[in-house]
Amino acid sequence: MVKRSPWIERARGLIPSQWLRDARMVLDGLAGHPPPPFTSRGTADRAASSPSAASLPGARPLKVAAVVRETPDAVSLTLVDPRGAAIAWRPGQFFTLAIRLNGEVLRRAYSASLPMEEAQPPGSVRLTIKRVSGGRVSQHLNEHAAVGDLLDVFGPSGSFVVEGAPPLLVLLGGGSGVTPLVAIARDALSRLPDTRVVFVVGNRSIGDILFREELDALAARHPTRLTLRHVLSDPPGEWVGGEGMLDEATTARELDRVSLEGDAEYFVCGPAPMMDAVRSALRARGVEEGRVREERFSSPVHSVAAADAGGDVPVTAVLRGRRYALVNRAHETVLESALRQDVPVPYSCTMGGCGACRMKLLEGAMTLEEPNCLTAEERSEGYVLTCIGRATQACVLEADPS
Ligand code: FES
Repeated sequence: MVKRSPWIERARGLIPSQWLRDARMVLDGLAGHPPPPFTSRGTADRAASSPSAASLPGARPLKVAAVVRETPDAVSLTLVDPRGAAIAWRPGQFFTLAIRLNGEVLRRAYSASLPMEEAQPPGSVRLTIKRVSGGRVSQHLNEHAAVGDLLDVFGPSGSFVVEGAPPLLVLLGGGSGVTPLVAIARDALSRLPDTRVVFVVGNRSIGDILFREELDALAARHPTRLTLRHVLSDPPGEWVGGEGMLDEATTARELDRVSLEGDAEYFVCGPAPMMDAVRSALRARGVEEGRVREERFSSPVHSVAAADAGGDVPVTAVLRGRRYALVNRAHETVLESALRQDVPVPYSCTMGGCGACRMKLLEGAMTLEEPNCLTAEERSEGYVLTCIGRATQACVLEADPS
């Protein structure tokens, strides 16, 4: 189970609940809930994202229009709608890719790495996927994604986004956590003329830096508005950037180097230890918790709840006062059952990370996959997430009126 940190708990009154949800999606898995080990790269894996794969209920099928190798361990996919419709999102948001591997549907969240206005071709979205050790989906996409593949996509989701026009944005990213921050930086520099951006990017080696040329070009184009600083834990001999892991001391040192006057908004994304260290460094500097936004990603452990669920279970969904009867089949989530039966329940990420599918359990019982973004308070009030929930007894669920 995900444990919310006291720091985040105290921020609850200061920041919207969606920020908290984003803050609880943990990059690279969570202690005790690692993603399953990579076991197969055979033809079944290749077929998983082939053009013939059937769409999941509620998914938007998008076609891979380009595959760009960013680093030896990261690839960018440009996705387009085969029907020609434009894909919309806000910089910092993520999409969920649902990939079939060996008969199992795996869902993973990947952030858009460009703002919508800069997508090429217009109407497309660029998602960047870094290979995760033991990560079946990231391995699969890095090794097998090809132009013409159709992918099942959900979203966009999340509110790791800039609101208004803050005078200063401080972006702190580690590894692939830089992905949503690149979109945020590019958007702010083109759309918010009075906003200055400080961007600290942490990596192990120079070869691991995602979008290095793109970021350097951005800094050259905005010399007075963008302060870009690369920090390497394993720098080459001639390195002139920052050195060290992006831990608390290094973060403090890097922030000491730049002028942070003005009401700064902080955006943090990266591996969990780095985010914890940055959080400590910001707290030590007296940064108000409400000024810090975090983006973390996790992978639900689908098999736990699936194994606990029984056979077909009747479920009643109450939506804006109207009652819908549906059957929750074994091995389907309630959301999957609802979408299969055309019941218009709310949803977005489909992997327990955004809260869009939250409903109140009025009667019956459900199991939920963990970790997920429900707060302890929401759980005690009887809320469940249909995208990762399975009915174990006849249920009545009610959506929020909004
Ligand atoms: S759709 Fe995002 S938590 Fe269920």
